[in-house]
Amino acid sequence: MAKQVVFTPSGRRGSFPEGTSVLDAARSLGVDLDSVCGGRGICGRCQVTVGSRPGMEARDDRLSARAATETDYHARRPLGEGRRLGCAALIVDDVVIDVPSDSQVHRQVVRKRAGVDALPVDPVVRLHYIEVTEPDLASPTGDLERVQEALSTQWQLRGLSVVPYVLQRLQTTLRKGDWKVTVAVRDESEIIGIWPGFRDVALGAAFDVGSTTIAGHLCDLLTGAVLASSGRMNPQIGFGEDLMSRVSYVMMNEGGAERLTSVVRGALDDLIGELVSAAGVDRTDILELTVVGNPIMHHLVLGLDPRELGTAPFALVTTSALHTPAALLGLSVHPGARVYTLPCIAGHVGADAAGAVLSEGPHRRDDLQLLVDVGTNAELVLGNRNRLLAASSPTGPAFEGAQISSGQRAAPGAIERVRVDRETVEPRFQVIGQEPWSDEEGFDASVVTGICGSGIIEVIAELFLAGVIASDGTIVERPESDRVVRHDRTFSYVLSEEPRIEVTQNDVRAIQLAKAALHAGARLLMDHYGVDQVDQIRLAGAFGSHIDPIYAMVLGMIPDCDLARVSAAGNAAGVGAMMALLSGVARREIEEVALRVEKVETAVEPRFQEHFVAAMAIPHKTDPYLELAKVVDLPARTVSAEGRRRRR
Ligand code: FES
Repeated sequence: MAKQVVFTPSGRRGSFPEGTSVLDAARSLGVDLDSVCGGRGICGRCQVTVGSRPGMEARDDRLSARAATETDYHARRPLGEGRRLGCAALIVDDVVIDVPSDSQVHRQVVRKRAGVDALPVDPVVRLHYIEVTEPDLASPTGDLERVQEALSTQWQLRGLSVVPYVLQRLQTTLRKGDWKVTVAVRDESEIIGIWPGFRDVALGAAFDVGSTTIAGHLCDLLTGAVLASSGRMNPQIGFGEDLMSRVSYVMMNEGGAERLTSVVRGALDDLIGELVSAAGVDRTDILELTVVGNPIMHHLVLGLDPRELGTAPFALVTTSALHTPAALLGLSVHPGARVYTLPCIAGHVGADAAGAVLSEGPHRRDDLQLLVDVGTNAELVLGNRNRLLAASSPTGPAFEGAQISSGQRAAPGAIERVRVDRETVEPRFQVIGQEPWSDEEGFDASVVTGICGSGIIEVIAELFLAGVIASDGTIVERPESDRVVRHDRTFSYVLSEEPRIEVTQNDVRAIQLAKAALHAGARLLMDHYGVDQVDQIRLAGAFGSHIDPIYAMVLGMIPDCDLARVSAAGNAAGVGAMMALLSGVARREIEEVALRVEKVETAVEPRFQEHFVAAMAIPHKTDPYLELAKVVDLPARTVSAEGRRRRR
């Protein structure tokens, strides 16, 4: 007699003959219930529990009693309270079946570790256990054809191709596994791995290749768990600090591109070694990788010539997402593994911006989000679900401490936080690697080596608030304080006497130029969108996560906005790479979104220069920064009539 079955949380329902397995019922209704072993009681991924609904209480006897396969499985890996194997439990009465999230192929994984709360998991590489018919003289088909037949009948996977590596090992593996093997299938279209017997290890690695650092995460493709995370400096730094100097190196040195490609690939491979040893796994367990990076890093990792990216019109070799065999990139992982590179958006807005968009999701929002990734080249995305615009702005390396007299990268010994007394203009500061502030007990001045980007932003913003720096960026004379010292026709501010660290007029100018470029880029996007204000600002990237939003706004790096809605996004690009690693749906999403992003080219926009000039002032020449003024006492300055009109 037919029994009613309802699956939760999907709500799918149907009636099935008594004795149907829960897995078969789920499959026929299209319910998301996982399986690697194809219903043989080996993998344990099909676990369900009996649920309830009004008028139908949860009772164990709505399913058959535990069968031998379940008892065997339970002896190897104990099943949790009330858990049943969906492939072994048979329907004997009307029943509600709960599919827990860890038994769903497409699920949300909640985690804090990599700076993200929840990730969708539906990886493009999946494992399938199959039992293959042995050859005999009566039916002389090839071993591959019988593997394909098994995948078709046991997994409904048809027309699969196979990578050469698998073909070379096919016969020995089939015989070694006694005609029972596990295959890894990528994108439901290609067999990329084969192992004798049952196997349930499938790992992936996601990388964010920045011009300064490379970050990597090792993930379990079956569960979405992050097994290890690590980072290291990009060794290309030895060929040039910033992106443009690396492109110059390529232009001026025969074989330069190949050298840069070789060192960055070497660093990725070393990082893979670190990740697998930290997780206690094998390199060959890695079946899929993803990479994000700015356009120049993206091209260099892939071995594509980046020279066109050095000059207008900044043409990319391709904007499309790519799937490249890992072996071609010199990465020692599973021989069938592929590297997925996210799409690039434009010549200066790369796969890293695509990753940040994927993780921050402006295209999933109703309100207007400005996403800012601050680096040598700021990448900006503005929009919501209706429309997305992107631009890059040539901020230069000042925010990273370059071009600053005592500047340095954010590393131990760098001053990163600064406060300046509004009356006495005396400073206090904090350095990376030391808890106490400079005026607190235990502070060790001997470790101070310089000032990093966030420190320089804070000191200039604080000096502006204390009246030491005027709105036009000039350091003004302060006769009553020996902190302000004269050098010919300009003044400097002495932040530290021992070691001597000064903020010079040139330092302030370098930061003004950088922040004006960033602000002008954002303003240009707002012009194109037709708005004067954004609802939310997210500061992405290592630097964006390090700067205090209030100082970024006092300086006028970013447009005026409700300060409560300005926040750090962490390594959004890296999280995007991880999302693309764990989810085919996420890949399709970003590929579709990247196509519809409208590119705004700052270099050819006549209004960019106009915005740039107005943004040289601190915080801005004409914008009154009314939101900022609600939380900070801004020094009096002249606000033009146009500025007031624009904000009304
Ligand atoms: S499907 Fe593998 S144990 Fe049930």
